[in-house]
Amino acid sequence: MGKIPHLVQYQGSKRILAPEIVKYIPKTAKRIIEPFAGTGAVSIFAAYQGICGKFVLNDINTPLIQMLELCIEEPALLARQYSEIWHGQFAENENNIDYFLKIRSEFNNGKCDAGRMLFLLARVVKGAVRYNAHGQMNQSCDKRRYGTKPDIVECNAFKISKLLKGKTRFYNMDYKELLDMAETGDLVYLDPPYQGTSDKVNPRDNRYIQGVGFEEFAEVLGKLNDRGIDYIVSYDGMTGDKKIGQTLPEYLNLKHMYINAGTSAQATLNGKNETTYESLYLSSNLKEVTPEYMQLSLNLA
Ligand SMILES: C[S@@+](CC[C@H](N)C(=O)[O-])C[C@H]1O[C@@H](n2cnc3c(N)ncnc32)[C@H](O)[C@@H]1O
Repeated sequence: MGKIPHLVQYQGSKRILAPEIVKYIPKTAKRIIEPFAGTGAVSIFAAYQGICGKFVLNDINTPLIQMLELCIEEPALLARQYSEIWHGQFAENENNIDYFLKIRSEFNNGKCDAGRMLFLLARVVKGAVRYNAHGQMNQSCDKRRYGTKPDIVECNAFKISKLLKGKTRFYNMDYKELLDMAETGDLVYLDPPYQGTSDKVNPRDNRYIQGVGFEEFAEVLGKLNDRGIDYIVSYDGMTGDKKIGQTLPEYLNLKHMYINAGTSAQATLNGKNETTYESLYLSSNLKEVTPEYMQLSLNLA
């Protein structure tokens, strides 16, 4: 198996967990719909495995979904935009940190094109963007790194494009609205901001441009059940033996599993060695699906 391409680091990306998730997607799925696409790791992996030929990618974050769309539709253009911005930080008399702040300020003042989005994600620590209450990006940059080199970004963008071009539709709306277009036979993969990071009452989330409330989310899943639409949800989990967030309600009739997400970075910082497990829920029709445990020698890009 070759390398599975990925464009840029992004908080909550399912790049590492995608093989564990994708094995529950029925091969008969008409489309894979990702209402919370982020960097689209699950769709990229599913396309890589040849599991489905049609994809719907949506995210409420406009520059983010525009970046993904440009990557898939016009990888050369995205690579050129990124390269120009990336090289700018090494210009004569330029301080790379001041340069990052300048690009971030331009971004927050309306120049929020795909190239700038990609550069900002590449330069912030672990792709962990942060937003203030006005939706402006306020995270500082990783001072030890300059962001992925343009030739690597270009190579990955072309690989992703090859997997998804001509098969993907892009949307930029709230997940509830997007779900109106789901039909029986589609597989919806939902990866919302987790409860640990979203405020229940006012679903603002400083880690993403918007959060998702628990009650509302459960209600939306109930409606998918009523419509007979299959879905898979990634939602919170456990670190060590500490459960994070509420479990989705029983009445939804879901199969709840935990998948190993590796060592918790936060626990390591606190001097503990704890494993993080992420919850994976399967809707009732998928419960009986026996995953084909794939013999993959994963070689992640
Ligand atoms: C956990 S991340 C998804 C990560 C993705 N699975 C990946 O592999 O990169 C959650 C995403 O949901 C988006 N989001 C938050 N609220 C949303 C909403 N109401 N509707 C649609 N997208 C939303 C965020 O912008 C963020 O990109």
